[in-house]
Amino acid sequence: MFKKVDLYYPTKEIKNKAWVKDKKIYKDAERNPIKFWEDLAKEIFWFKKWKKTFVHKPPSFQWFVEGKINITSNIFEKNSLGWEKIKNKTALIWEPEPTNEKERKLTYDELFREVNKFANALKRLGVRKGDRVGIYLPMIPEVIISMLACARIGAIHSVVFSAFSSSALKIRLQDTEAKVLITADGYWRRGKIIDLKKNADEGIKQTKVKKVIVVQRAKNEISWQKNKDFWWQDLIEKESVQCEPRIMDSEDTLFILYTSGSTGKPKGTVHTCGGYTVQAKWTGKWIFDLHHDDIMWCTADVGWVTGHTYGVYSPLLNGIPTLIYEGSPDWPAPDRWAKIIEKHKVTIFYTAPTAIRMFKKYGTEFIKKYKFNSLRILGSVGEPIDEAAWNWYFKKVGKGKCPILDTWWQTETGGILITSLPGIGPFKPCFTGLPLPGLKFDILDEKGKSLPPNKEGNLVLLPPFSPGLLRGIYKNPKKYLETYWSEYGKKVYFTSDAAYKNKQGLIRIVGRVDDVIKVAGHRFTTGELENAISKLSSVSECAVIGIPDEIKGETPIVFVVLKKEKSIEETKKELIGQLRKEIGPIASPKQVYLVEDLPKTRSGKIMRRILKRLLAKEKLGDLSTLANPESIKDIKKVVKVR
Ligand code: WTA
Repeated sequence: MFKKVDLYYPTKEIKNKAWVKDKKIYKDAERNPIKFWEDLAKEIFWFKKWKKTFVHKPPSFQWFVEGKINITSNIFEKNSLGWEKIKNKTALIWEPEPTNEKERKLTYDELFREVNKFANALKRLGVRKGDRVGIYLPMIPEVIISMLACARIGAIHSVVFSAFSSSALKIRLQDTEAKVLITADGYWRRGKIIDLKKNADEGIKQTKVKKVIVVQRAKNEISWQKNKDFWWQDLIEKESVQCEPRIMDSEDTLFILYTSGSTGKPKGTVHTCGGYTVQAKWTGKWIFDLHHDDIMWCTADVGWVTGHTYGVYSPLLNGIPTLIYEGSPDWPAPDRWAKIIEKHKVTIFYTAPTAIRMFKKYGTEFIKKYKFNSLRILGSVGEPIDEAAWNWYFKKVGKGKCPILDTWWQTETGGILITSLPGIGPFKPCFTGLPLPGLKFDILDEKGKSLPPNKEGNLVLLPPFSPGLLRGIYKNPKKYLETYWSEYGKKVYFTSDAAYKNKQGLIRIVGRVDDVIKVAGHRFTTGELENAISKLSSVSECAVIGIPDEIKGETPIVFVVLKKEKSIEETKKELIGQLRKEIGPIASPKQVYLVEDLPKTRSGKIMRRILKRLLAKEKLGDLSTLANPESIKDIKKVVKVR
């Protein structure tokens, strides 16, 4: 890439190969965004063409109305690259954690057969169109097979991150009312077997799950209940390798994925068959510049939206291999990922800044011997990437030749919406880049006035939005309206992110304006953590805040007031145990402070902002509005800030 001040542009090589290299596309799309998406949708296979491209009845909107589609037909038998061309090509590469275990590869045809067999098995168990199916699987091929099998028969998949606790699983299963859960006996992480089935058994209590399908992965001992538990292998054994795709309406639900936001309870974002397919296919093709000879590795777990779209659907819709791996980035050694990239000649690599910062901290020695010749395009997602991490990624991994796409999006948007395109640029550290062609973003002040360059405000998306944007929060239209369509009225999608743009129009994301924190790229709300802690009978009240962390981006800190005196060690142990139990190990706080009182307004609202400033050693501002200003003195003592 060549550099102009601190802006980068693609090299000739990247530009020549790129699907999109002419800036004109932005102007063309702007003129008629609906037609722009319509033209892209035409290159996808529809059983029946849509009647209307975009219908808007604020806050609801629809895309490709009355079109008939199945996403799996677009991956397999009707893939736009041609089934004959791709059927013997690798679709899926799986790297297990134990180094003495062999990788598994499936061609498109093999994957298709597995998907069909399992789809038939699901049908035999009574799963029908519109039924929700819970998937609580580690990163093994069956997680992808399960998702696609559901999509094949029109069942709605709802994947739950395998590192979530049984309580977190339960909440989600209760909300979806799934009757079937797909899980595994266990999986490998950092040299140990994690007993997933135990969590699953606990998680399905007080839910409607009647049948549990278990993949044998780690061969650990598990408990078993006849007529409830079924081995995956037994179920598919006699099933046919053919299964007709269920013809879905464009606006039918493809999946529900839970995410955190605005209050304690996770929200089920609803994604549709038509719009999501169009967006997943095209954002992958253009942003990662996917060509037939590419191999994509998106390191995100399938339990998060990034794994859904860029670990599964997007690469497969584009007919290229997707790589997934079991385990942890730096186990058994820091070069685990580097080895995988070299071994499989990965060309497109997509990860989160947290991982980059972690590797950077290991120094340069471990990465020196890797040339990474195969890499062509690098992506970053999930949290802001700082300049030092950007430069390290650019130089040490991309060897100065791969464009870095800092991609902004959300679980709600289903696919990337802001990033400069690899064949056009420009790329600027800390800036996510330009909105994709066809999208209208704006930055507004509190009153809804559009802000000029370099002024920070709320990032919003204007009609016609994007085909993949969520259509609802499962069973909660009120929350949908309140969260996304209330701040500036029913026609403006409120992202909950603060941002500004520079004179060139490149967007810089500043951070969330709600109580969402991104811990190692994982999305939580502080309220969710507080709810979990407040369930402890020893706790009188608590406040959780996110503070900057060198590696994880942000990390939670807990302030807690107890009912009865206890030692800090004991309190810490209890709280951490509780968060692991209620949410999962990733929610563990960095620090717990035992305090006498929390700063509150006269109406009783806990002032988290003051706690945040205190830890950041910033000025606390006017404390006269507090009901209990004396609480600050004690807190200062506890956190050892003067
Ligand atoms: C943040 C992840 C800065 C943002 C795909 C957003 C980012 C939230 C970026 C959504 C980026 C995502 N730079 N911040 N490139 N990408 N975010 O739902 O605050 O897990 O609102 O989706 O992550 O997180 P989610």
